[in-house]
Amino acid sequence: MRLRTLFAALMLLAQPSFAADIPHLETKDGRHALIVDGEPFLMLCAQVNNSSNWPAMLPKVWPVMDELGVNTIQVPIAWEQIEPVEGQFDFSFLDQLLTEARAHKVRLIPLWFATWKNTGPAYAPSWVKLDNTRFPRMLNGEGKVHYALSPFAESTLAADTKAFVALMEHIKKVDKQNTIIAVQVQNEPGTYGSARDHSPAANAAFAAEVPEAVRAHFGKDKGTWAELFGKNADLYFHSWAVASYIDKVAAAGKAVKPLPMYANAALQGSPFEYQDPNTFASGGPSHAAIDAWKASAPHIDWVSPDIYNPDHAAYMGFLDHYTRPDNALFVAETGNARHYARYFYAAIGRGAIGFSPFGMDRTGYVNYPLGAPKISDEVIALFGRNYHLFAPMQRLWAKKAFEGKVWGSSEPTAEDAKHTEILNLGKYTATISYGRPQFGFDDPKGNEFPMGGIAIAEMGPDEYLVAGFQARVAFAFTNDDGTPLLMDRVEEGHFDNGKWVFDRLWNGDQTDYGLNFTSAQQVLKVKLATYR
Ligand code: DGJ
Repeated sequence: MRLRTLFAALMLLAQPSFAADIPHLETKDGRHALIVDGEPFLMLCAQVNNSSNWPAMLPKVWPVMDELGVNTIQVPIAWEQIEPVEGQFDFSFLDQLLTEARAHKVRLIPLWFATWKNTGPAYAPSWVKLDNTRFPRMLNGEGKVHYALSPFAESTLAADTKAFVALMEHIKKVDKQNTIIAVQVQNEPGTYGSARDHSPAANAAFAAEVPEAVRAHFGKDKGTWAELFGKNADLYFHSWAVASYIDKVAAAGKAVKPLPMYANAALQGSPFEYQDPNTFASGGPSHAAIDAWKASAPHIDWVSPDIYNPDHAAYMGFLDHYTRPDNALFVAETGNARHYARYFYAAIGRGAIGFSPFGMDRTGYVNYPLGAPKISDEVIALFGRNYHLFAPMQRLWAKKAFEGKVWGSSEPTAEDAKHTEILNLGKYTATISYGRPQFGFDDPKGNEFPMGGIAIAEMGPDEYLVAGFQARVAFAFTNDDGTPLLMDRVEEGHFDNGKWVFDRLWNGDQTDYGLNFTSAQQVLKVKLATYR
């Protein structure tokens, strides 16, 4: 008997536990890695259109995803779809999606469209959105009924949580192999047109003392929201209310299966200027509210920007806001117009755990002018070439990002006079210039539209992996004291099962003017050296 018990205990020790295998976020020295199957994983992701979450649409989704070469897709799972009648659940779409995702060898992120979808309850079942007594909407500053559901309604929280828990229980049951690697809880939460809820419960909470966790995060003594936060009082209060609600939904789901869970933000117009919270999605994790979210939602692993601002400086500003020691950068949505494709490089160069253009299917809908006027071959090719380039080395890249040894550049806007960016790699700088012929030192003129991008990873002392498209890369010493620098060896190769395979050396014309990346899929390993 004793031997049997000992044997059983040893067997248990020998097997990795289910919990250890579950995808999770790791943070070390202020950097982050999404761990999938035990190793860092870079999500080469794309999102389908809003109403593509039905079996009949999937044949119009997969060809685009396959051409893109994604390793992860985001698909809505709507509350109205899984619980059309209260208490009766239907997971048939998710089951089909999981089967097809596995057949296409991609991982999946379900998007929980429930209390908030672009701030409104459109995806809640009719028995929720038509019953304003049991599931009350917010009141605005004039005491009028607002379109968004109140984050202070316990009955709404209970119903949403019950449905989400049922979803997570189903996922736990049918996805032992962890095809699902993260879950987005709600979609672009918050509210337009009213900076906060003014229902009696909300007003009472607003007049009360700020909760301890929020005060601790901001290093504040006791006081009310207005006393402690002045012009940010409404924004932080509403962010706390919405984030605490979503945190409770996420916590209940994680108690079933502790997958990474995140929230995405409808961004403000500019990453640089103060904006009145009555004029954007107040309460969501916009950049101005990240700290309020961190203080209020400990079960949300990260908050993500949905970036539809094509301006280069603005895009960089948003990426920088969401790249924090306490927040992993995941571009959960971005425009699918062709000029957004290059922003993949600036994102992964900041150590992003993933990047995802929105609306990538052929169901007939396009969100132009936000995105592309058409899901054309050109659009698919521009986003797809990044994913095809990175797919064979995404694990290596994610590991290097976790170590803080990656950099990236996305071509500046066409108006930028220099068409150049200098990356500081420490001992060296890399000058990335755009729109030059491969031969000679003609000034950079920019590409026909901004489409270039470069990614660099440090492989070892004086050795760098360089990859990208339509740009020239030149190295120099950061502290240039006249010591000569040369590229001792430039190998072109590719990765096979994570192993570097040498194809040829670049020399002569291929290196005399810098390293010229074209539209060809090329990865280089560059060894820098000096002579005395
Ligand atoms: C951002 C939202 O999160 C998406 O679901 C979608 O509505 C786009 N905006 C617009 O197409």
